[in-house]
Amino acid sequence: MTPFYNRRVPHGTLVGLGVIRRASAGAPLGSRLHILGRYLTCPFLPAVDALPPGARVLDVGAGHGVFARLAAERRGARVVALEPDVRKLGAALRHPAVRWVAGFDACIRGRFDAVALCDVLYRVPAAERDPLLARLFDRLRPGGLLMLKEIDPDRRLKFFWNVAQEFVAIRVLRLTLGSGLVYENREALGRRLARAGFVGVTIRAIDAGYPHPHVLYTASRPAQP
Ligand SMILES: C[S@@+](CC[C@H](N)C(=O)[O-])C[C@H]1O[C@@H](n2cnc3c(N)ncnc32)[C@H](O)[C@@H]1O
Repeated sequence: MTPFYNRRVPHGTLVGLGVIRRASAGAPLGSRLHILGRYLTCPFLPAVDALPPGARVLDVGAGHGVFARLAAERRGARVVALEPDVRKLGAALRHPAVRWVAGFDACIRGRFDAVALCDVLYRVPAAERDPLLARLFDRLRPGGLLMLKEIDPDRRLKFFWNVAQEFVAIRVLRLTLGSGLVYENREALGRRLARAGFVGVTIRAIDAGYPHPHVLYTASRPAQP
């Protein structure tokens, strides 16, 4: 997906921008800029469009809810948006199909058609990643889909830019809750997904036209136990 600053802007990107701009209209200026900046620098649409239509989705670490809102509007998803940072919840994008919950994944029970983890894992300590992925596996119905969006540390130039920006966002502006700033490459994350029991892992670079090395993983809980 190509963002706004490329010469040819795909229709979906502009429609998404309109959705996010209107949805954030009532938020304080700082939050609004944060939300718009997030949409413009992260390719949400490939992840949203991978959702089955009408899916019941758990969005873990939903932030201000850009993914959740687009999933509801573009895919007719019913979303439980889970976010531990109450600063973001105060300015979160509201939609009748998005239910917000303040907290961590342990707050949630039940099964979902899809679970999204979008730029969250890099803020989770390495020792806690396997247990988190195993719990998210349990939150999926058999055959359900995990969508994991991360940054690829093997793309050195873009990765360096990403780390510089995150340093300012986390250490200077204190915008994002979590601990550490540890990125894992495709092989390491692929092994984690397999250890948690996921199958059918796909890994796709979705960073064309973006300054950061975005990569999208999808994986399924097996349909049969
Ligand atoms: C970079 S933001 C991404 C937000 C959102 N997913 C998006 O793509 O716009 C990372 C989010 O993860 C949340 N977070 C950090 N650690 C978490 C954890 N252990 N469980 C759930 N969310 C967490 C933070 O509060 C923050 O909102």
